[in-house]
Amino acid sequence: MSIRVNPVSACMGAEIVGLDVRRQFNDEAFAIVEKAFHDHMVIAIRDQSLSAEDQKAFSRRFGPLEVQANSTYAIPGHPEVLIISNDLVDGKPVGLIDAGDHWHTDSQSRAIPSRATILHAIRNPSQGGDTFFANMYAAYDSLSDDVKRRISGLHGVNASSKLKNPRVVVSQRRPDADDFYASRLGKPDVLHPIVRVHPVTKRKALYLSPRFTIAIAELPDEEGQPLLDMLFEQQMRPKFRYDHKWRDGDLVMWDNRCLMHCASGGYTYPDVRRMHRTVIVGEKPE
Ligand code: OGA
Ligand code: MN
Repeated sequence: MSIRVNPVSACMGAEIVGLDVRRQFNDEAFAIVEKAFHDHMVIAIRDQSLSAEDQKAFSRRFGPLEVQANSTYAIPGHPEVLIISNDLVDGKPVGLIDAGDHWHTDSQSRAIPSRATILHAIRNPSQGGDTFFANMYAAYDSLSDDVKRRISGLHGVNASSKLKNPRVVVSQRRPDADDFYASRLGKPDVLHPIVRVHPVTKRKALYLSPRFTIAIAELPDEEGQPLLDMLFEQQMRPKFRYDHKWRDGDLVMWDNRCLMHCASGGYTYPDVRRMHRTVIVGEKPE
């Protein structure tokens, strides 16, 4: 077995080649992948061909799986595997079409947000469909000491419903989106520290996002909103970014505790994109 881990940008990300996770995912291979995941934050294992069952088996090596929040678009019989797609059958969407369309980290509006998200690229469009990632260790590290002092101990207020957040829009490409986000208006907001210590690497990362974070708990909006704008700008600086261009068969896993990501869009039906998504249960941010 010769598994190779190749960094894909100066700032984050690695591809892993020479591994068939269906056949060779023994302890040695697992250790290599887990280390690459912690070192590079987002990894793309190339050339995989996995059934829903195979993807669940791979994913479970990293921890228990979440049941997908949006059950409408789960693979029948596999509530842990969500279809992300713009494909239509008889005019009806087979998958979630607007997943990740603003900068975010997964399930930040829950008390226990997701640890890692795994997408298997089943089919890519002929253009567009990239996923953008941003390194939140680097975004934190390069703040001035003054700003680091100012944000230390502050908490972001994170909202589940997009309708509570003037910085985002609800996609009109998804027929049930307005109802879905209206149904979440009653969900209580969740507070998380803006500076999060990664439980494994022990490094500090900025932990807030334009999609979920609508206020700073300890500050009135006159102070909190400009601070959020400044931090969001910092988080999205090009130098912290890696843009993943998908290949069919990519099995990509990212760490929601130290990066943000965003779906770039840029493709239109009948140019079809289809991903299968599994998610590892996380821990309370500290
Ligand atoms: C997600 C997500 C982005 C994409 O699955 O959590 O944000 O490019 N996906 O599909
Ligand atoms: Mn996401």
